[in-house]
Amino acid sequence: MRIAVIGAGNIGGALGKRWAAAGHAVSFGVRDPQDPKHQALTADNVQVKGLREATKATDVIVLAVPFKAVQETLEQIGRTNGKIIIDCTNAIPNPPEGFESTAEAIAAWTGSGRVIKAFNNTGFGNVKNPRYGELAIDTFICGDDAEAKAVVFQLALEAHFSVIDAGPLSAAKHLESFARFWIHLAYSQNMGVNIAFKLLQR
Ligand SMILES: NC(=O)c1ccc[n+]([C@@H]2O[C@H](COP(=O)([O-])OP(=O)(O)OC[C@H]3O[C@@H](n4cnc5c(N)ncnc54)[C@H](OP(=O)(O)O)[C@@H]3O)[C@@H](O)[C@H]2O)c1
Repeated sequence: MRIAVIGAGNIGGALGKRWAAAGHAVSFGVRDPQDPKHQALTADNVQVKGLREATKATDVIVLAVPFKAVQETLEQIGRTNGKIIIDCTNAIPNPPEGFESTAEAIAAWTGSGRVIKAFNNTGFGNVKNPRYGELAIDTFICGDDAEAKAVVFQLALEAHFSVIDAGPLSAAKHLESFARFWIHLAYSQNMGVNIAFKLLQR
């Protein structure tokens, strides 16, 4: 699969490297591809490009930039032409005005029915390494397009998560609250970043 990862920071960098290692063609979309800080990203199936260039010949666009930069980033990317859009963002402390979640804002701004919320609901250390001993931590995804969600489900497995389908895109508000709760435990409750959630079922 050809994956454009927009933003090569903590989250984008971790996911892009993982998917490249799994054999996907990854193009990182960054504001300044010539910036020497991106040199460490390049590998056989990894390229670093400008924002629009990175998304041109890809099936999936991963938004891993600060939420405040999303609208401007989308404008620079231009039409998303039915590509799957993975929204990893969190708006802290509240969802964007007029929306219940960043994912629904992104769906409205792009006019896309193929936005999937994913990889927002735990810290980047857990995205880099989702294993706790024998266990894979749970990551929750949601979206309205079944085919797009199946693709993201598989990409989450390849990133070494255990994956839970949390339903339609309207559930993104719960995934984003969940991220705020993780941040609360990690930082306000001083539990640190090596914490993660596992859903029990019987
Ligand atoms: N950190 C976490 O633990 C975590 C967990 C879950 C979700 N998230 C969400 O994931 C997204 C990315 O977080 P991150 O921790 O990966 O952030 P980060 O390390 O700061 O990386 C952000 C990336 O966005 C790019 N960017 C583009 N436009 C930008 C702008 N106007 N201002 C700043 N950066 C801009 C930066 O690239 P250039 O500067 O090179 O262009 C950088 O590579 C955020 O929405 C965050 O809420 C973060």
